[in-house]
Amino acid sequence: MTTPALVPGLAGIPAAESAISYIDGKKGLLSYRGFPIELLAEQSSFEEVAWLLLYGELPTRDELESFQNALVEARTLSARMLDVLRSLPGKGHPMNALQASMAALGMFSRSREYRDPKQQDEAIVRILGATPVLIAAFERFRSGEDLCEPKPELSTAANFLWMLTGSEPDALSARVLDAALILHADHTMNASTFTARVVGSTEADPFTVTASAIGSLTGPLHGGANERVLTMLEEIQGDEDVGEWIEARLAAKRKIMGFGHRVYSVKDPRAVILQGLCAQLFEEQGRTPLYDLAVQLEEVMVKRLGDKGIYPNVDFYSGIVYSKLGIPTDTFTPIFAIARVAGWLAHWREQMADNKIFRPTQIYVGKHDQSYVPIAKR
Ligand code: SDX
Repeated sequence: MTTPALVPGLAGIPAAESAISYIDGKKGLLSYRGFPIELLAEQSSFEEVAWLLLYGELPTRDELESFQNALVEARTLSARMLDVLRSLPGKGHPMNALQASMAALGMFSRSREYRDPKQQDEAIVRILGATPVLIAAFERFRSGEDLCEPKPELSTAANFLWMLTGSEPDALSARVLDAALILHADHTMNASTFTARVVGSTEADPFTVTASAIGSLTGPLHGGANERVLTMLEEIQGDEDVGEWIEARLAAKRKIMGFGHRVYSVKDPRAVILQGLCAQLFEEQGRTPLYDLAVQLEEVMVKRLGDKGIYPNVDFYSGIVYSKLGIPTDTFTPIFAIARVAGWLAHWREQMADNKIFRPTQIYVGKHDQSYVPIAKR
């Protein structure tokens, strides 16, 4: 069999069959299990969407209630787990803290047989429920604060804001974060989901799968972009001319964070909805000057690179929403992880249901038949 030609980044190459989410990159469409993202962001909740991604259908009232109760229970971390979080270096990045603590969390799990659906479900709930708590606890400890005990009556989004900031969010802030989590929950075969599927295909445990995917999401070309968009906007704020700033950046062959996408050749539908969420927040809590700059940057970028199919992606406006919610900039990508854990675990379940270990090939371009030269003669 002849080896096919290399496709850099496996662009356009299917790695699996999946029924979880669907993108039309030309029309700017995204749906989860057949439900358009606009409908879900407007009418659903993160917990309901997590169930939909994992199990394929919207939950009944009873299913949702028991799922929510299980997620609330999973928010509790043992004293030893909290010690792990306290021992992590506060100067480290929260994504590295999340990856380390996720792997540690798995060490406390008694399960080992993850081909058993019951143990899969238990691990899924534990990971989904604990992820926001790991992030909030690390933030509190590195700021010299005590842990805010989780509040069972609050949603995942509201409880995260409570545990992160020490004050209960108003209804709008909780709703906006809940919608942002829905928007970030899944996105077909992106790099971190592909990572989850590759690691899952070796039958590694779901905590290890999730810790691996967290590592992949950390990169600035992937989930790490949202944090860099805000620092980029703050950098531009000092400059007079946005166009000149862009030209200088492009001339230096540096990417403009928050723009471009492997699949979308139009504006990311999630960016459109996130802009709407900005408007809702600004109405009640006042505008962010960075937002106007972001809109101006988008206008100039679209004129400059729109014909190359380079438009804002999900990371361009999300940081403005999160900073308005009082979230520290380096905690933006961990929020992406809170949501995407649902998608990673849905893909893990799907992979385990019909698994074959990933082992692609390569095109060897190295040397052959080398003879060994002793070091004395090198
Ligand atoms: C996410 O895959 C997913 O679904 C990811 C994600 C998800 O939900 O999981 O949507 C989340 O990761 C969003 C992307 C966040 N990253 C960024 O905002 C970083 C900036 N964007 C780029 O790095 C880039 O657009 C990527 C990584 C998003 C896509 O990279 P590709 O598909 O490999 O495209 P490329 O880098 O080969 O670029 C193609 C051309 C190049 O120009 P030429 O060399 O052909 O002349 O477009 C240019 C690039 O220079 N280009 C950009 C650009 N993005 C692409 N030029 C300037 N700024 C940019 N942002």
